[in-house]
Amino acid sequence: MYIERKPSLNIDDLKQEFKESIKHINSSEEALDMIVGFVALEQLYTSALKEISTKLDILDDQFQQMYKHNPIHHMERRVKEMRSLIKKLDRKGYEVSTASAKENIFDIAGIRVICNYFDDIYVIENLLLKQGDIKLLKRKDYIEHPKENGYRSLHIVVTVPVFLAHSVETVPVEVQIRTIGMDMWASLEHKIRYKNSENTEKYKGILKQCATDITSVESKMQDIHSEVFDH
Ligand code: GTP
Ligand code: MG
Repeated sequence: MYIERKPSLNIDDLKQEFKESIKHINSSEEALDMIVGFVALEQLYTSALKEISTKLDILDDQFQQMYKHNPIHHMERRVKEMRSLIKKLDRKGYEVSTASAKENIFDIAGIRVICNYFDDIYVIENLLLKQGDIKLLKRKDYIEHPKENGYRSLHIVVTVPVFLAHSVETVPVEVQIRTIGMDMWASLEHKIRYKNSENTEKYKGILKQCATDITSVESKMQDIHSEVFDH
């Protein structure tokens, strides 16, 4: 068993923190309604993450059975915290409401799939997209087209149906698929960028070189793995 800790929510604190972005809210009752709405939203997106994780787990298990190979090293998942969701809506100039969040924000539910080898990324993508209840909404291939700083990853946003007591909701989930090496790079780059912008500039060049080196090592490892195990 594990215990999940959640930040406690206080209506007055929230109103204070988001004075500007929720100024269309006039009363405590309205604020409470909004919070209840966001909590329901979190529940819905958590369910969507469970659906997608189960699909990926099943694919990984079957691969192990058929080819003695697990394409997935591990997965990480998270639902965007209400605070950062409100901040993102505000930053992008959208109304701060649950309806607006559902319509405009596609990374409320996010899952990161860390693969063992480069080829596994596209295997996982294809197998997921082939499933009848999965629809592709957006796709960005930062492996084919790495970002200027060296960031590499495959991003897809898919929708999955979530069956509730009285309705079926179609919920978007952002799936980031990357290798262990790409993940190692992205974790360090992210940590540096969030900690201190001076260091971002200082380590820009070396980080870009690391991205190139990691790509080269991972592609050699992929070649060895393919030669030995693919027939
Ligand atoms: P947003 O509205 O900001 O989410 O824009 P977007 O959906 O167009 O962004 P994109 O798909 O390019 O990236 C979304 C996520 O990918 C981010 O939240 C990060 O998790 C990851 N990401 C994108 N670029 C970088 C990068 O340069 N470095 C790292 N470490 N992560 C990145
Ligand atoms: Mg995004």
